[in-house]
Amino acid sequence: MTTRQDCLALDATDPLRSLRDEFDLPPGVIYLDGNSLGALPKATAARVAEVVTNEWGVGLIRSWNTAGWINLSQRTGNQIATLVGAGENELIVGDSTSVNLYKALSTAIALQKLDAPARRVIVSERSNFPTDLYIAETLAREHDLTLVLIDADELPAHLNSELAVLMLTHVNYRTGRMFDMAQVTRDAHTAGALVVWDLAHSAGAVPVDLIGADADFAVGCGYKYLNGGPGAPAFVWVHPLHTARMDREQLRQPLSGWLGHAAPFEFTTDYRPALGIQRFVCGTPALLSMAALGCGLDVFAHAERLGGLPALRRKSLALTDLFIALVEARCAGHELTLVTPREAAHRGSQASFAHETGGFPVMQALIERGVIGDFRAPDLLRFGFTPLYTRFVDVFDAVEHLHAVLTSGEWREARFNQRAAVT
Ligand SMILES: Cc1ncc(COP(=O)(O)O)c(C=O)c1O
Repeated sequence: MTTRQDCLALDATDPLRSLRDEFDLPPGVIYLDGNSLGALPKATAARVAEVVTNEWGVGLIRSWNTAGWINLSQRTGNQIATLVGAGENELIVGDSTSVNLYKALSTAIALQKLDAPARRVIVSERSNFPTDLYIAETLAREHDLTLVLIDADELPAHLNSELAVLMLTHVNYRTGRMFDMAQVTRDAHTAGALVVWDLAHSAGAVPVDLIGADADFAVGCGYKYLNGGPGAPAFVWVHPLHTARMDREQLRQPLSGWLGHAAPFEFTTDYRPALGIQRFVCGTPALLSMAALGCGLDVFAHAERLGGLPALRRKSLALTDLFIALVEARCAGHELTLVTPREAAHRGSQASFAHETGGFPVMQALIERGVIGDFRAPDLLRFGFTPLYTRFVDVFDAVEHLHAVLTSGEWREARFNQRAAVT
């Protein structure tokens, strides 16, 4: 079995080890929740202070031009585009993932209404993140479509002549199971459907090739693996063939706000959509949050010199492989069942274990020991591995703490069953 010494040796030869120094991680904490809220890059506080003090404080309204605020959504979008296989000026940053999903899914529905009005079904996964399902349910109601929720293995049976749009999250937030984006997209297209991907648990965590997979639409989060900070703006990508068509036919996305207008500073009373992805902007972007997101993305630019996403993926798989092996060896007989796929091709950058009776208190006891993962009802212990800053020795120590929590029975103490608003 891998020893602590082995882990220290792995860290010493890790080609990505210098990236951890770019983060401000609190001492005594093993942070395994970067799939929920990424850690703080060291550059962020000074950059946000600079934007507040100089760009806002001194530049005032002039900074929209002089500091380039007006183009920041696109510049930041171009940084993210390199991580998800999108082209320049195809992806835009702003709003939340939920809002972007509303725009993307509405547009997919609108295109299918034009091309294949007989298709009346949206399909998604039953265990998709709730916001995705709520947005889909709302749009299904608005457009008199049927939302069908399935388990992943039922997908082939639903790729049929009724399907208008398939909306999936690439890496499942609970299990960490990853779809084969290229294959699923190909099969959906063969069936005549469009595909919307949610990359919340993929962007910055696993290599994604939107253009290579011929995907139609994608959305994703800024505050998870991209380390943009709490409430960081999200992103939306639309295949350039769809935006070109929207340009030709003057099609809108549903939230036609002024900054998605072709000429916002003409202040005309009628709406004329901007060209390309720019029409997916709605209102004024959250500049301070976007400045913070830029610092998270800069770390990926540095990672690029050390092997980029392929190297991050190799390390992420090594971390999750090690975690799974150690948990199964050290914590056997303690009601834990792995729910994350063992096959690398089907695994994102997390490992989740179901605990039969005490998922919530076990995680609380771990957090008190400084090992921060999270709990997803009803029974999941969820551990995210961010290869930018997680070390092999962190994996080893986290499992030792888990072993101690389970064997001592400390998780049964009543205080670990107090639920706060956020789990
Ligand atoms: C798959 C998925 N989609 C969307 C979201 C969140 O969306 P929003 O940025 O609108 O809060 C999450 C958050 O955890 C998620 O896991």
